[in-house]
Amino acid sequence: MSEYALQLKNITKRYPLVLANDHISLGVKWGEVLALVGENGAGKSTLMKIVYGLVKPDEGEIYVNGKRVEIQSPSDAIALGIGMVHQHFMLVDTLSVLDNVILGMEPKAGPAIDYATARKRVVELIEELGFDLDPDAIIEDLPVGAQQRVEILKTLYRDAKILILDEPTAVLTPQEVEELFKFLREFAAKGHAIILITHKLDEVMEVSDRVTVIRDGKVVGTVNTPETSVAELARMMVGREVILTVHKKPAEPGEVVLEAQDLRVEGTLRPRLNDVSFRVRAGEVVGIAGVEGNGQTELVEVITGLRPFKGVLRYNGETVHPSARKVREWGVSHIPEERNDRGLILEFPTRYNIILGDHYRPPFAGFLGFFNDAVINDYAEKVVERFDVRPRSIYLIGRRYSGGNAQKIIVGRELAREPKLLVAAQPTRGVDIGAIEFIHQNIIEARDRGMAVLLVSADLNEVMSLSDRILVMYEGRIVGEVLPGEVTEEQIGLLMAGLETAV
Ligand SMILES: Nc1ncnc2c1ncn2[C@@H]1O[C@H](COP(=O)(O)OP(=O)(O)OP(=O)(O)O)[C@@H](O)[C@H]1O
Ligand SMILES: [Mg+2]
Repeated sequence: MSEYALQLKNITKRYPLVLANDHISLGVKWGEVLALVGENGAGKSTLMKIVYGLVKPDEGEIYVNGKRVEIQSPSDAIALGIGMVHQHFMLVDTLSVLDNVILGMEPKAGPAIDYATARKRVVELIEELGFDLDPDAIIEDLPVGAQQRVEILKTLYRDAKILILDEPTAVLTPQEVEELFKFLREFAAKGHAIILITHKLDEVMEVSDRVTVIRDGKVVGTVNTPETSVAELARMMVGREVILTVHKKPAEPGEVVLEAQDLRVEGTLRPRLNDVSFRVRAGEVVGIAGVEGNGQTELVEVITGLRPFKGVLRYNGETVHPSARKVREWGVSHIPEERNDRGLILEFPTRYNIILGDHYRPPFAGFLGFFNDAVINDYAEKVVERFDVRPRSIYLIGRRYSGGNAQKIIVGRELAREPKLLVAAQPTRGVDIGAIEFIHQNIIEARDRGMAVLLVSADLNEVMSLSDRILVMYEGRIVGEVLPGEVTEEQIGLLMAGLETAV
């Protein structure tokens, strides 16, 4: 038995525009949690995809338990006991949780699938993990947080001994993160190994034993967690000091930009939105706090014209015909929670992704609707520069960006058009610590220029630090309104859990 579960030696991967991995060497020992951190685009996912057999390295060697191995495909990786939870969900939307978990690994009773055995194991696993998941639920009906839990479940069902998690907590609630970490600690205590990629450095401090930092495809260093700090890790990652708190002056709210009255969306068992009324004024950030799946997604879809509803919505006192296009033309920008489904067209180059939603109008479309390529390119160059999208090309297609850089393209597009109202759902999900600072600054600056902001975030920290007022949602209703300076996270937590009504 080797001390190391997995070792990488001199792994190099070149892409046309970037050297994604530049002679990376690192190792994770049996019984430990190794955190892997680095800026957006640093090369973390690429490296882990190499380990999982999804990407072929140009150079380098992989050792599992001290033995050199060739990993050509995920099935090689699984056979070696390596499991991976991906940054982007890889589930079949129309199948159930159970079907997704056992897909390709179905226990058989003769030629048929032995559902009884499969179900028993899956239910046991769900209980062991303390996950709130119905094995019969259909994936597309689940909020993203629950989908992520299915991904984790799927890997563990395959008996992984070396577990790689690529930003598993980005979509989890604090309680779910807690449960996951408890599981990770137990998993490591059994002698297994874990590599955890996350942008949340306090999580790194909480759950890891050692941390490897990479920047621009190279290892900057490996440190023992007890001997480091969030500030030091941030500095190693970004190469400069990072301001970890949001500085903003008090809001000066102007006229009412958005008025919602008795919004209602029906659901199967109970309404998904129930009598939701509130206002957002120019120059203020209204945060929506809540455990995911309590109506926030529906609310965002209603406001951005994506979902039919009952009730009244007024934009600047006007009732706009509620189609996504009209709402957008009126001046609503939307940072969607699911960036791959709704944020970008993955096969389009950035110069088109960056004008999406305004592409049919001047100045981007001209005579007979033809694209004004010169105008588009010029505009795209500027946005990419201002929002620090890496690599700095306007021709790279959406699929080729790292997670955080894809998010920067969306945030850039939505802010650069100077909307009257920004509806931001999880705006910094998957974004590195330097870019979070940058996006927060940009949102606050736009607020100070008079933009209204409705912020939906599962990150309570983010809601508390950006919002001027906070509405708490529970089971489709607004159950309380609080001011960030006058309430503790615990009090909001109670409201979010439905344990207390209006403060
Ligand atoms: N298929 C590809 N073709 C071209 N370039 C790619 C491809 N996949 C990744 N890259 C580039 O490789 C670099 C590293 O990407 P990677 O996804 O590994 O970053 P990351 O560290 O996981 O970032 P994030 O924190 O944003 O997820 C990025 O510049 C990315 O654009
Ligand atoms: Mg990544």
